Amino acid sequence: MSGKKIIAVVGATGAQGGGLVRAILNDPSSGFAVRALTRKVDSDKGKELAKLGAEVVAADLDDVESLKRAFAGAHGAFLLTNFWEHFSAEKEFAQAKNMAQAAKHAGVQHVIWSTLEDTRRWVPLSDNRMPTLKGRYKVEHFDAKGEADHLFTELGVPTTFLLTSFYWENLIFFGLGPKKGPDGKLALTYPMGDKKLPGIAVDDIGKSALAIFKKGKEFIGKTVGIAGEHLTGAQMAAALTKALGQEVRYNDVPPEVYRKFGFPGAEDLGNMFQFKRDFQEVFCGPRNPAIARGLNPSLQDFDTWLAQNKSRIPLT
Ligand SMILES: NC(=O)c1ccc[n+]([C@@H]2O[C@H](COP(=O)([O-])OP(=O)(O)OC[C@H]3O[C@@H](n4cnc5c(N)ncnc54)[C@H](OP(=O)(O)O)[C@@H]3O)[C@@H](O)[C@H]2O)c1
Repeated sequence: MSGKKIIAVVGATGAQGGGLVRAILNDPSSGFAVRALTRKVDSDKGKELAKLGAEVVAADLDDVESLKRAFAGAHGAFLLTNFWEHFSAEKEFAQAKNMAQAAKHAGVQHVIWSTLEDTRRWVPLSDNRMPTLKGRYKVEHFDAKGEADHLFTELGVPTTFLLTSFYWENLIFFGLGPKKGPDGKLALTYPMGDKKLPGIAVDDIGKSALAIFKKGKEFIGKTVGIAGEHLTGAQMAAALTKALGQEVRYNDVPPEVYRKFGFPGAEDLGNMFQFKRDFQEVFCGPRNPAIARGLNPSLQDFDTWLAQNKSRIPLT
């Protein structure tokens, strides 16, 4: 490891950070070494990362001192928050603040902050086309991330703002895959109308982040959006039909119906899909697959991802 620049990776045991850890460890000539941050260094995932060659260190996003220690001596840091663990946008904001302060304190030279749009820029709270959530947000798991961008800028932390896309792994792990209806037929239910949903394979987030760290200075202060492909619900259903060898229909429901599905986060996701549907240019524009492919020539499109992953999609 000696001589290599250290990249501290938040979320190393998870989807985005795990993708970056694999990208760095699979590219021994990158000049980077991985420092994997986790609250549970002794967990199976923590041990596995150590076995793969990462330095695994304890850190908690709620504890700024632990972050200062974990960032000490690091050249770069990949940063995220996980809304879905606590469903609190305020907590995400506080955690982003801790990370920005710790990165500043440690003198990290390049941060990649995995952010998303503060949708209130386009849909102010007074706009009734979608409900305001918890009195302060339109899309809770987006808004505080976007709101936190300025924390990095104001502290003078050299930052690239990374806009990721809907992970296609959501079809496997997040309950957003095709489901059997009462007629026994599979359907993909998103309130997207005929509009396009930018999607990406998680591993391609990691590979893109590695490319951004490699390019360094030219990306500092920039916002970079990445997607593997932009597809309508109907196009996703057609690709699934072909890959799975059984019919998958696209079930377009209005966002107001989706919001009432009742699972935790349904209102937030209903608003999110509606934002993506109604602000197509705002959302798709910055997530140009050609730019993502420029960073990461092995970027997968949906068909390629399906060929590798179709057997992992639960069809219930
Ligand atoms: N699903 C999508 O399509 C999508 C698209 C764009 C953005 N996102 C965003 O991605 C974020 C989640 O990222 P992910 O999917 O990569 O996560 P994930 O796979 O669910 O894993 C969560 C990671 O966050 C770490 N973590 C959470 N709280 C922590 C804390 N207090 N201190 C230290 N580490 C902590 C966990 O580490 P340990 O448990 O090991 O400590 C774990 O590695 C969400 O905020 C979501 O909004 C998701």
